[in-house]
Amino acid sequence: MTRPLLIAPSMLASDFSKLGEEVRAVDTAGADWIHLDVMDGHFVPNISFGPDIIKAMRPHSKKIFDVHLMIAPCDPHLEAFAKAGSDIITVHVEAGPHLHRSLQAIRAMGKKAGVSLNPATPAETVAHVLDTVDLILVMSVNPGFGGQAYLPLVEEKIAQLKAMTAGRPIDIEVDGGITAQTATRVIAAGANVLVAGSAVFKGGVSTYASNISAIRNAASLARGEAA
Ligand code: DX5
Ligand code: ZN
Repeated sequence: MTRPLLIAPSMLASDFSKLGEEVRAVDTAGADWIHLDVMDGHFVPNISFGPDIIKAMRPHSKKIFDVHLMIAPCDPHLEAFAKAGSDIITVHVEAGPHLHRSLQAIRAMGKKAGVSLNPATPAETVAHVLDTVDLILVMSVNPGFGGQAYLPLVEEKIAQLKAMTAGRPIDIEVDGGITAQTATRVIAAGANVLVAGSAVFKGGVSTYASNISAIRNAASLARGEAA
């Protein structure tokens, strides 16, 4: 079963003074999903935005809102992110005492559930939740900031997760330092969803479409598909 190739620009690298416009621009430029990075200054050393900002972005695109929660504890906030218009809500393995329960809570609200692994988090930590997730998000940088260098050490873990999820309807998403170059490596390892912040937003609005295409074409070739 081959999962579709999807490109998810991260709004963290956009111009926050005009978020609605930026969402519309990446939507038009060919984004498959809109990736939204929520940071609490506690689980990660940076603070970004919360549910009200996501709610404000929601009317600007019909595409999937892929919400990546880098917050702990996550449980008290899941409902607010569901109500804000998230389609997928992803929590980190370490974001609460009962990962399986957090994922069940997300699904109970009718949303897709994702689990994320930091570079230091082993693949085995999600073995018990494979029936309860729609997506596994592999961090290829330490979470907290855009623009960091890709860590090749994650490739072995992506391959492990690909094997663990064989035959299941689970997307494998990679986040951090993704460019047209690194995309080929994570695709070869088994990922099918690529998050990209800097590589999409660099160069300004007139370059978003070509930046997304460059990543998509490199990834398609690595999948053995026509670019
Ligand atoms: C990092 C975030 C990423 C980040 C990616 O903690 O989860 O989504 O925005 O940014 P780039 O693509 O610039 O590494
Ligand atoms: Zn992210």
